[in-house]
Amino acid sequence: MKNSTIYVTTPIYYVNDIPHIGHAYTTIIADTMARYYRLKGHETFFLTGTDEHGQKIAEAAKSRKREPQKYADEISHKFKSLWDEFDISYDKFIRTTDSSHKRGVQKAFKTMFDKGDIYKGMYEGYYCISCETFFTQTQLMDHEDCPDCGKPTKLVEEESYFFKLSKYQERLLTWYNNDENCILPKGKKNEIINFVKDGLHDLSITRTSFDWGVKLPKDMNNQKHVMYVWLDALMNYITALGYGEDEKEMSFWPATMHLVGKDILRFHSIYWPAFLMSLELPLPKQIAAHGWWTRNGEKMSKSKGNVVDPKDIADAYGLENFRYFMLREVPFGQDGDFSQKSLIDRINSDLGNEFGNLLNRIIGMSKKYNNGNITSLHVKELHVKELNEVEVILKNVEDRLKMLQTNRYLEDLWRVLTIANGAITTHEPWVKIKNNNKNEALAVVGLVANILARVTILVSPIMPKTATIIATTLGFEIDTKSYIKFIEKKELLSDFTIKETPPLFPRIEKEVLATPEPTPKPCSSEDKKESIITIDQFFETSLKIGTVLDAQEIKKSSTLLKLKVDIGEKQTRQIVAGIKKYYTPEDLINTQVCIVANLKPINIMGILSEGMLLTAKDKKGLSLIRPENSRKNGMPIG
Ligand code: MSP
Repeated sequence: MKNSTIYVTTPIYYVNDIPHIGHAYTTIIADTMARYYRLKGHETFFLTGTDEHGQKIAEAAKSRKREPQKYADEISHKFKSLWDEFDISYDKFIRTTDSSHKRGVQKAFKTMFDKGDIYKGMYEGYYCISCETFFTQTQLMDHEDCPDCGKPTKLVEEESYFFKLSKYQERLLTWYNNDENCILPKGKKNEIINFVKDGLHDLSITRTSFDWGVKLPKDMNNQKHVMYVWLDALMNYITALGYGEDEKEMSFWPATMHLVGKDILRFHSIYWPAFLMSLELPLPKQIAAHGWWTRNGEKMSKSKGNVVDPKDIADAYGLENFRYFMLREVPFGQDGDFSQKSLIDRINSDLGNEFGNLLNRIIGMSKKYNNGNITSLHVKELHVKELNEVEVILKNVEDRLKMLQTNRYLEDLWRVLTIANGAITTHEPWVKIKNNNKNEALAVVGLVANILARVTILVSPIMPKTATIIATTLGFEIDTKSYIKFIEKKELLSDFTIKETPPLFPRIEKEVLATPEPTPKPCSSEDKKESIITIDQFFETSLKIGTVLDAQEIKKSSTLLKLKVDIGEKQTRQIVAGIKKYYTPEDLINTQVCIVANLKPINIMGILSEGMLLTAKDKKGLSLIRPENSRKNGMPIG
């Protein structure tokens, strides 16, 4: 029987933000799923891209004094290059400014209009530019703020075309009820069902107050309207397959899985299926929403200044280690706080001690006992118990992946590795060799090699290059043939001579990167929510004047300098400061600075930091806060 085709998508990323690990997470999960289905032999189409229209992008471009298209080109390129560097196996990178996409959206608009699902009216309501979402007054927080992101909304009163979303309410509810796994995780699905049950309003789908968007089809004679960015964006999933033009690739439709973050689930599980119903196209098989990566509990985003650059992490710790970490650390659908410490723990313990060490052990044992030759000859006869235990776990393991439970999938694969490590401890092949039971010793090594081979194949969608190295060491290739042979048919490895491989997961002793501190926010109306403190609370912070006695670059860091600061009364403080991009050591030596003197000391990249410099940072750069005239070291500020 021919395998079904697979269509996996990521959201298309807004070009007002540079890629961070939240974006990388969605893309890496999608890449894993695409690789998994390809491995199983399915014809697979994997789509990603950028979302380039709308008021948010227009404003971002304007604030940088750029043409929106030029600005979008630049950021879109950043996303594409990062995915290329990360070896993301996408089949198409779509941009909503592609002319074929724009034509496809116009075609869809016209089809829905001709069907009577779109009508013209007046929109009066509130709009959040950051979320590109319309709200009624009753939905707002504190009468004016966006209930999703908390930012102020704008009152909008303009002519608009509306989509008859309310018409599809019952059909949507029927879909949710009939198709158990159409929205994952289940808890989120219930939220959507309740939202729809509360009643759907028709959706404003055009705007007239700005023009950075797809125009209405020419024959509708209304060129002052541009399409609502979510209508434009959601259509990418079909325009990428040639909807409305060369529809050859529409054979991939409906999507097998749309991967999205939880913040955009509503758009995907309400608006999108309703548009598809109107277009009379089949509905996606699954919409799966993951949680957020946070820093100290806050969603990571550029505006909060708390983003972690995925490239920095991949460069410092290895791309595939990072992929493993992201998929192993957090249950799908839940939020996860990013820390280098947890990443290092996963690398040293799961990857180094358990996975890598197993390979090292069989390389060592096979060399010692049999010139590197490994045989499966007596494995079945002597190790039926272990083989059965492995089978029990592997039987359902792939269902976990199909349901996006990547952490449980990996947990189970690591339980299989434990069986292999346990077999070595229990059967002590070194004792068997001593006692001249060579066949039995070799059977233990053969068992372990077979277990490792199976785990390697199943881990390959997550760590493709690492898996290829291990497979080469074990004398086979990772492809659909070997998947069928070793996973589906459960055959054992043919005899082979193991290859030497340097350790795959060298131990990491300490954090490699300086942890970015949240950027202070420029003053804005948002600041009105800042908490008020008493003067006593203020004076709990000890601020002092000091003189920089010495400043040195920290070689491994692009951002850090190490300073020695005299703070009076014969005291000096060592401070690690993230100012390397703005000051050289020479700029600082013998100059005065202001420091926070009673901060708990911390280690940054293994270097003790006993205070913090006062600085101010905005888009133009960072400057130190210094006394206007020279002052005695240690003088309190307040
Ligand atoms: N352009 C829309 C999507 C349109 S799809 C038809 C959009 N773009 S986005 O760039 O803001 O977000 C893209 C994805 O990144 C979303 O799935 C979002 O949830 C995800 N993430 C953004 N920040 C995130 C974290 N801090 N953590 C995890 N994922 C988050 O929304």
